[in-house]
Amino acid sequence: MLSYRHGFHAGNHADVLKHLIQILLLDYLQKKDKPLLYIDTHAGAGCYPLASGFAAKNREYQSGISRLQHTGNRRNLPAALRRYLSVVDASCDAETEASYPGSPLIALQLLRPQDRAELFELHPADCDALQKRAYRHAKIHLADGFAGLKALLPPTPRRALVLIDPPYENKADYQTLERSLREALKRFANGVYALWYPLLPSGESRGLEERLIAIAPDNYLSATLQVSAPKGERGMYGSGMFVVNPPWTLRGELEECLPLLAQWLGDNGEGHFTLRGEQR
Ligand SMILES: C[S@@+](CC[C@H](N)C(=O)[O-])C[C@H]1O[C@@H](n2cnc3c(N)ncnc32)[C@H](O)[C@@H]1O
Repeated sequence: MLSYRHGFHAGNHADVLKHLIQILLLDYLQKKDKPLLYIDTHAGAGCYPLASGFAAKNREYQSGISRLQHTGNRRNLPAALRRYLSVVDASCDAETEASYPGSPLIALQLLRPQDRAELFELHPADCDALQKRAYRHAKIHLADGFAGLKALLPPTPRRALVLIDPPYENKADYQTLERSLREALKRFANGVYALWYPLLPSGESRGLEERLIAIAPDNYLSATLQVSAPKGERGMYGSGMFVVNPPWTLRGELEECLPLLAQWLGDNGEGHFTLRGEQR
């Protein structure tokens, strides 16, 4: 049974890290005119109203995107953060109330006429919501994104960004993530893969970064953003994005943004980031 609903977490610190990197990757890959395929294995509903519905319950966005939106003069921000904020502002502009975009809507806003998207979402209600919002270039599947990814690789065209963003409600997601990345790299070694994961004090997420590095040791960039110190046995205290075949520009952009995100999104001065990688 699927009980995870991304709406409860829309616009939180994890979304900020994930979507900032997603946008930087898309921007880089679109520097060439050649067609690009965007694959989102766990797409969610696409857009989340903030003042009503799930997001209004815990208001996680208030310690995420809202803090960035209220940092004062945007002109003083690094270009990458300005870009992120402008894409977020524009992505849900058809909505009648203040909303935060999910990864598929962000991608669809940026895709060009020559690009395509394959979006997978297993929750019928979220898939339905996505169907209503998604438009040109998008094929939406009410299906398992891990299996869907395997079936699409190697893709046509041969340039692709794959976002893998499971809910990790089920511990098996960790192993499936690792197996999927291994298989995907065998089928399509040149793809750009971006994997999100939570930082939790116990369980399978511990050591995941090392296990992912072991799968792609020669060409990766790994960023984590911690917003508080780990407390007790449970509770997400941050998250990580692991990128395989990252553009060479990404490290410099994140070196500028991550210290600011740690400062603004960290609670009580507990914000912290890490950035490590190997690039050919
Ligand atoms: C973390 S959310 C996705 C958020 C989205 N990527 C974003 O950034 O806006 C994970 C989503 O995956 C869906 N899901 C869970 N298991 C799935 C599977 N095996 N295949 C596809 N979607 C799945 C959940 O219903 C949920 O909407």
